[in-house]
Amino acid sequence: MRRKRVGVLISGRGSNMRALIEAARDPAYPAEIVHVVSNKADAGGLAYAASQGISTAVLSHKDHPSREAYDAALSAHLKAQGLDIICCAGFMRILTPVIINDWQGRMLNIHPSLLPLYKGLHTHERALADSATEHGASVHIVTAELDGGPVVEQARVPVLPDDTPETLAARVLTVEHPLYVRALAKLATSF
Ligand code: GRF
Repeated sequence: MRRKRVGVLISGRGSNMRALIEAARDPAYPAEIVHVVSNKADAGGLAYAASQGISTAVLSHKDHPSREAYDAALSAHLKAQGLDIICCAGFMRILTPVIINDWQGRMLNIHPSLLPLYKGLHTHERALADSATEHGASVHIVTAELDGGPVVEQARVPVLPDDTPETLAARVLTVEHPLYVRALAKLATSF
């Protein structure tokens, strides 16, 4: 089976992107990371991707008059790279159907909660406020409903009595990386 060509969208440090790049070094992994796009020029993950010989691009939303115009430009850019799958990894943009419809069933996102719990922002704070005993992360197919598409894989962590949003976020992040690697492999071998 041909390895799927994957583009990763980031806005910041890109630790999930890095986990995917590292996993895809194994020729037996069913996907290769061939392109990284950030909407922010100062995203830390860009330098790592470039250091691995992966092409990168910055497409700033500030250069476009509307959310739809940005999404159209981003989707056209991604199509021009000949990609099979898009992985959102800390890409801090709400996407419109203009791009979502182009990549139906082929676009993943990682969200730091056990969806359908805690869609949106501040997931760790909200889990602590609810005295949750369990928390985690989900990789889901991107649909028009924010953080609402079908879940591909989840990973769980305990919430400990002395947790702060920061300690809980750090524990969740350690399971996010292998989770995203598993979820991408699952999608990449499904078509
Ligand atoms: C992760 O917690 C991810 O779940 C969320 O944003 C964070 C991105 O971290 N969507 P990184 O940029 O991958 O390090």
